[in-house]
Amino acid sequence: MRIAQLGAGYWGPNLIRNFLRVPEVTSFQVGDPDEKQLAKVRGMFPQLQTGGDLQSFAADPSIDAVVLATPAATHYEFTKLLLNSGKHVLVEKPLALNARDGRELVDLAREKKLILMVGHVFLYNAAVLKVKEYIDAGDLGEIYYITTQRLSLGRVRQDVNALWNLAPHDISICNFWLDAKPERVTAKGKCFLQPHLEDVVFMDLDYPGGQAAHVHVSWLDPNKTRRIVVVGSKRMLVYDDVSMDAKITIYDKGVDRNAIPRDLPSAESFGDFQLQQREGDIIIPKIKFNEPLFVECTEFVRCILEGRVPKADGENGLAVVEVMDQAQRQLDDARR
Ligand SMILES: NC(=O)c1ccc[n+]([C@@H]2O[C@H](COP(=O)([O-])OP(=O)(O)OC[C@H]3O[C@@H](n4cnc5c(N)ncnc54)[C@H](O)[C@@H]3O)[C@@H](O)[C@H]2O)c1
Repeated sequence: MRIAQLGAGYWGPNLIRNFLRVPEVTSFQVGDPDEKQLAKVRGMFPQLQTGGDLQSFAADPSIDAVVLATPAATHYEFTKLLLNSGKHVLVEKPLALNARDGRELVDLAREKKLILMVGHVFLYNAAVLKVKEYIDAGDLGEIYYITTQRLSLGRVRQDVNALWNLAPHDISICNFWLDAKPERVTAKGKCFLQPHLEDVVFMDLDYPGGQAAHVHVSWLDPNKTRRIVVVGSKRMLVYDDVSMDAKITIYDKGVDRNAIPRDLPSAESFGDFQLQQREGDIIIPKIKFNEPLFVECTEFVRCILEGRVPKADGENGLAVVEVMDQAQRQLDDARR
């Protein structure tokens, strides 16, 4: 499989490093208009071929697939041109900057029978998959709500706000865990450093099953935090992506509603049930961890070779963009 990549900035080298390890990849080439970035990746990967651009990759019949690690504003236009040129595409998140463009790309990939994959790397993260197993097995009981925090100080972008830069990960994780798309989205954000780019966003998602999710993203926070709490009727769980040795902690804690027999005198005053706090063991499961990005890159190549649809396909990426699009409209309205 011959693959080319556009973009060798911050994230690009991670994709290069992993694609170079995928056995089926026979040739890998990287283009970036910034010569400094190309010199940087040549220094990191001496065997790497550099050079080429969107037009040359699109026109080269020997290139099977193109990876886009370019700024979000280029994703729609670049992906469209590459699909129209018969290339399979792995585009970094977000798929597009609005739902209409995202839908067009998904339809185009289907029509052309090409693989369109979005870099929702957490769908290939062993800890995220483990939590999904717990949820699906009913170990947490009925899921009540999820809260996510993706916070840090810095890597302030000047092309997209903190919502578009950080929240796609959390939305993709919540959709995956709950097997659903939110039916209602509300968002509030604040711009402090740049006039039209929110540094902090608080977003609330309501899922059709009655679950709620609260997403907090910021690049203006003292601590690097990558923390998700899942509260279920039986157990509660914390997924801490920053932790080295306790990525997932399961708390056998909760509040049970215990029915009170009708004939007891207290029944009338308490209603029909009593709320009882329960505290049991705390479990930190061992997780066999493969680098999620390597799993993602391998999946892209294998899906092309085997004609399989990837988990992080265009439709999945579109579901994330739909949420972001709704949230962004509310942020725009609040700034007017
Ligand atoms: N999956 C993840 O966890 C993750 C993490 C970080 C970034 N990303 C995504 O990766 C993408 C890039 O982010 P970044 O942080 O590396 O940005 P960046 O600004 O550091 O790098 C972007 C690179 O693209 C290059 N570029 C611009 N126009 C180009 C063109 N026409 N052809 C080729 N290259 C071009 C720029 O010169 C730059 O080197 C974004 O979509 C971002 O959301 C994903």
